[in-house]
Amino acid sequence: MSDTKSAAQSHQFQAEVAELLHMMVHSVYSERDIFLRELISNASDACDKLRYEAIAKPDLLGDDPDLKIRIRGDKAAGTLTITDNGIGMDLQELVDNLGTIARSGTKAFVKRLAEAKEGTGLIGQFGVGFYSAFMVADRIEVTSRKAGTAEASTWVSSSGAGFEVGPASEDDAGRVPRGAQIVLHLKEDAKTYADAFEIERLVRTYSDHILFPIMLAEEKGELRQINAASAIWQRSKSELKSEDYSQAYRTIAGAFDEPAMTLHYRAEGRQSYAVLLFAPTTRPFDLFDPGRKGRVKLYVRRVFIGDDTELLPPYLRFIRGVIDSEDLPLNISREMLQNNAQVAQIRKAVTGRVVSELEALASKEPDKFATVWEAFGGVIKEGIYEDHERRNQLLGLARFRTTKDASKDGALRSLKDYIADMRPGQNAIYYLTGDNLDRVKSSPKLEAARARGVEVLLLTDHVDAFWTSAPHTFEDKPLRSLSQGDVDFGDVARLDDKKDDGENPTAVDDAVITAAVKAVLGDKVANVRSSQRLTDSAACLVAEGRGPDRELERLLAMQERGTGTKPILEINTRHALVKAISAAKLGGREADVADLAELLFDQACILDGEVPEDPAAFAARLNRLVVRGLGS
Ligand SMILES: Nc1ncnc2c1ncn2[C@@H]1O[C@H](COP(=O)(O)OP(=O)(O)OP(=O)(O)O)[C@@H](O)[C@H]1O
Ligand SMILES: [Mg+2]
Repeated sequence: MSDTKSAAQSHQFQAEVAELLHMMVHSVYSERDIFLRELISNASDACDKLRYEAIAKPDLLGDDPDLKIRIRGDKAAGTLTITDNGIGMDLQELVDNLGTIARSGTKAFVKRLAEAKEGTGLIGQFGVGFYSAFMVADRIEVTSRKAGTAEASTWVSSSGAGFEVGPASEDDAGRVPRGAQIVLHLKEDAKTYADAFEIERLVRTYSDHILFPIMLAEEKGELRQINAASAIWQRSKSELKSEDYSQAYRTIAGAFDEPAMTLHYRAEGRQSYAVLLFAPTTRPFDLFDPGRKGRVKLYVRRVFIGDDTELLPPYLRFIRGVIDSEDLPLNISREMLQNNAQVAQIRKAVTGRVVSELEALASKEPDKFATVWEAFGGVIKEGIYEDHERRNQLLGLARFRTTKDASKDGALRSLKDYIADMRPGQNAIYYLTGDNLDRVKSSPKLEAARARGVEVLLLTDHVDAFWTSAPHTFEDKPLRSLSQGDVDFGDVARLDDKKDDGENPTAVDDAVITAAVKAVLGDKVANVRSSQRLTDSAACLVAEGRGPDRELERLLAMQERGTGTKPILEINTRHALVKAISAAKLGGREADVADLAELLFDQACILDGEVPEDPAAFAARLNRLVVRGLGS
């Protein structure tokens, strides 16, 4: 058998890892503490995995069935060693798991760090798994033997410069216990982490709620347990303080913020289970991943089964925490979970509780709820079209920026608030969708509503274009788009006494102008008509009453799934530009009619945030008209 040296293979880190390690080296002093939490969390995950596998294959536990984590600091050597007797890794897994970043959230995080060039300061807020150990160590050695195998392997890296893997040396091979041992050679300025008091402090602060015992090796070598190692969700609410919950949230969710909402209860009856769920205050980086995976952990009688078990619907995927069932069979496979009737029942009941807890938060602590909504409203709204049963509840929860206070951090309004402030004669809830607040709030489509003091919801989340595509009512008031179909404010009076209609201000009939414009634009538009929604602007584009709204059509077209529906051009027959068309028509200046009509269309596109189809032609036309105007 060859020795370690000759069999060792050198590997480069994946580019993202190299980048991450570079940031580790420059991390802020105060962020470093989190490395221990990350390593303990990995050790705990490894114990969870083994315990789960051992349900089907009890032999995996061998003669070492008590899963635990050991920590030993050696001040003289300047090392800190974290050992677990969990699932372990074979050589290939060492290469794959400790050389690349698999989690898309972490990838997105690294990308953002690199773009922002403000890496330091953020690491501590998010954690970056195993690699955070390079904040405190300049050399890391991992020795591991995978459960059920005989060979042990090693992984060694001296910061940044790639890593080496190989079989553990002949001497060690037979003696390496199952699991993983991680030896950190502490940096000169990080030697305090070898100190037992310091280790105990960190464990109590960050890892008290880890389910497995964490044993600290004391000076004479004896082991002492330093964490509570209890399933906090099994304890009664009255024993627990809010700090306990915060810490449990961080341990369970691997998060660094405070929970904005905590839901802890025990269900008894047809099924019994304990629930401890949290709503975070900040968004994870993978919130909008197409997978829309939740991360609630399922335990069965304290044994971790999985965190990919879809215990909540995708629109609640931001909720973190644990559901621990007393009744499910322990040997349930993750695949079986998907069609298990008991699981379906739990899902339904817990979903109901989470939604009503959000409602309670909204009424009792509106500011806290606003934080949750700012971070996750864009996801919760998916439920409006996915969860028919709770549609009304979710519409009630929804908060909106509106024309009442359209600033970026303006007050959020509920539909109840909206209805309470409706104008006399108003009988619908009006909204406008778009991709950014500034553009939506300056859209000409708001003009007629503004003239009447009618509030308009400004919808700028991606998901808004989708949920609004089905007809909705809230408290018997229909929701109506201002960029779709006809708008009719009915009996709502204008705030000033101006009349909208009055005598026809143009020299020729509206019908003649709209026909002339339509003749110029041809197929670009479905129709041209005079507008009820404009008071000041010359023109805008709207969608037909049926089919996708403007914003939805735009999003679908971006994914090449557009329906090809053409917009309707609405023109304001009182506007000077439109009057100019009428004058040109009367004077037989057909070239001017054409230029002006195209200009109307192009500016309506621009107001929707689009580039005119032919920007060069747009510029040429504009120049022609301006020069002619100045020359006359
Ligand atoms: N002590 C260990 N025993 C077995 N496998 C481990 C151990 N430590 C790390 N690993 C493996 O290395 C991988 C990478 O760990 P890392 O902490 O970087 O990411 P993660 O734990 O998957 O995600 P995160 O820490 O971001 O939640 C783990 O997914 C696991 O497969
Ligand atoms: Mg980890």
